[in-house]
Amino acid sequence: MTQHVFPIPSALAATAHVDRQTYQDLYQRSLDDPDGFWREQAQILDWVKPFTSVKNTRYSPDAVTIEWFADGTLNASFNCLDRHAQGRGNEAAILWEGDTPGDTRKVTWNDLRQQVIRLANALKKLGVRKGDFVSIYLPVVPEAIAAMLACARIGAVHSVVFSGFSADALAGRIEDCRSRVLITADEGLRAGKHVPLKKNVDAALENLPFVEHVLVVRRTGRDVPMRAGRDRWYDEALAEVPDECAPVAVGAEDPLFVLYTSGSTGKPKGMLHTTGGYLVHAAASFRAMFDYRPGDIHFCTADVGWVTAHTYLIYGPLANGATIVLFEGVPTWPDSSRWWQIVETYKVNIFYTAPTAIRSLMRDGEGPVRQHDLSSLRVLGSVGEPINPEAWLWYHEVVGGGRCPIVDTYWQTETGAVLLCPLPGATNLKPGSATKPFFGVRPALLGSDGTLVEGEGAGNLCFADSWPGQARTILGDRERFLNTYFSTFPGYYFTGDGARRDADGDYWITGRLDDVINVSGHRLGTVEVESALASHPSVAEAAVVGMPHEIKGQGIFAFVTLKEGIAENDDLRRDLIQVVRTRIGPIATPDRIEWAPQLPKNRSGKILRRILTRIAAGDYENHGDTSTVADPAVVAEIVRRVQESTNSSAL
Ligand code: WT7
Repeated sequence: MTQHVFPIPSALAATAHVDRQTYQDLYQRSLDDPDGFWREQAQILDWVKPFTSVKNTRYSPDAVTIEWFADGTLNASFNCLDRHAQGRGNEAAILWEGDTPGDTRKVTWNDLRQQVIRLANALKKLGVRKGDFVSIYLPVVPEAIAAMLACARIGAVHSVVFSGFSADALAGRIEDCRSRVLITADEGLRAGKHVPLKKNVDAALENLPFVEHVLVVRRTGRDVPMRAGRDRWYDEALAEVPDECAPVAVGAEDPLFVLYTSGSTGKPKGMLHTTGGYLVHAAASFRAMFDYRPGDIHFCTADVGWVTAHTYLIYGPLANGATIVLFEGVPTWPDSSRWWQIVETYKVNIFYTAPTAIRSLMRDGEGPVRQHDLSSLRVLGSVGEPINPEAWLWYHEVVGGGRCPIVDTYWQTETGAVLLCPLPGATNLKPGSATKPFFGVRPALLGSDGTLVEGEGAGNLCFADSWPGQARTILGDRERFLNTYFSTFPGYYFTGDGARRDADGDYWITGRLDDVINVSGHRLGTVEVESALASHPSVAEAAVVGMPHEIKGQGIFAFVTLKEGIAENDDLRRDLIQVVRTRIGPIATPDRIEWAPQLPKNRSGKILRRILTRIAAGDYENHGDTSTVADPAVVAEIVRRVQESTNSSAL
């Protein structure tokens, strides 16, 4: 196979923070002397009490310890605000672009700091103390960032819940961390449509009496019911508190936030991140991987509900004093030139997005991009799923004008910040490869029997040591944390992904190996979708697998067995889709539902998703090892039906 290699642009090689030699030297040093290396990196932050210990980590089968900078103290909101407001107070921290074209706000460092201080005081007045959890269910508005930083200012722990999640999904995430305070908005606005956030909140809180206070941001100004004694308008609560609030020094290992992500069971995992290590890793990697220079305008398109936004829209950039573009809407509304119009308007230098969006924009051709002057762009980034070479080349050529390196950044909600990525001035690029480990990161490929793959080869992607941004536990479930990440390959952190290493030592992610699928760069547990389907009274059981999808990367294919006597029809299909949307949210909408009289199982009754995955991919003959199937006729019948409906929809 011929391999495109894109060498480092010479202008960047000469001026970048990290060039090829520096990367090699620093990477080696970060492995040989992690304490020295990270002590230096940690100077990117202001510490209240400097740390003396740096790395205290151990992955042994009987004990996992992850501590970084443990005896230091600091405040994240001070690092992301006060030190930049001093001297640059009237410059923009946030350039906000609303869903409706023309609806914009410039939020200066002073403005943001003032808002954070007032909200911190309002939270204190509601009884929020250090270590308490606060849930945030907001659209992509500056108030969402203020809410996160206000929690950080007083040592409270935020839990941002994606505003596209349903009332049920929100309720589960509030219940798990037992937050007594929730910050939301009257409504969200997305592609011109109103999203009933407060209504969802009211439904979510019906069975959660421990939630005492709801602060409501006026986003659209529509009338929403306010429950006396519980609900308050955000602006009114902020108006009546003092405008001073000293940042609280917290321990580096005190929690900063929890963020829920899907796993192999029906229950999402609350990944708990702490303050010092997370912020060092976020800030240092943001600077290196985007080759950030003071004055740059950074545009990360992620929603505040995902880890991408936590680390590379908010904490990493703001800790560096970067001006960020915050965009509430979608790239295709009112038309497919929206992002490029924003890039031109704000003269964006760094642009970070997901492959799925690139693929969907590619369909509309080069026209919408070419209408705009994108010459301000210097570095492009990709995250969330493997980027296919066609999308990479289009992104590079059409968006980046062939001049901008694309940093393909591999990481996870659990890893807090990047683990594998090129650095613009240091790494040759290969479309589709996340290339090399970030500083201090030790990737390892392991065979399923646990043997280490050396040199060129493929295997389970693991990491042999800790890194500062790593999640410290799953909230309330240490056992699950240890089992999920540290028990499969003792001595290693296991990502759940497969990867290949080529002859140059570059890494290529091949996708999830567990019961997790990646839909448009968002992680979904197949079991979550199955449980939602099975909650419908007509369903006996369901099996959900990923299927190849041109735009989303993976789509959701559901095989559903109905109860005795229930008729298979399209109305029921629609009902099932509705159930999933209500239980989880629109992102989990199945792309295809097939009726299966029975599901393929092994002799002990375990559903064989492996076989269904092949069928969903259109592979009707080659099901791998079928010797474990209790009844082969079941597989034959499913294949017959899937083939039949594929043929009829192709007509
Ligand atoms: C999973 C993590 C990292 C923030 C967004 C997603 C996949 C992520 C890449 C990449 C190939 C990638 C992996 C990973 N993934 N980035 N650059 N190339 N795959 O965070 O929801 O925690 O999902 O996304 O499968 O395990 P997440």
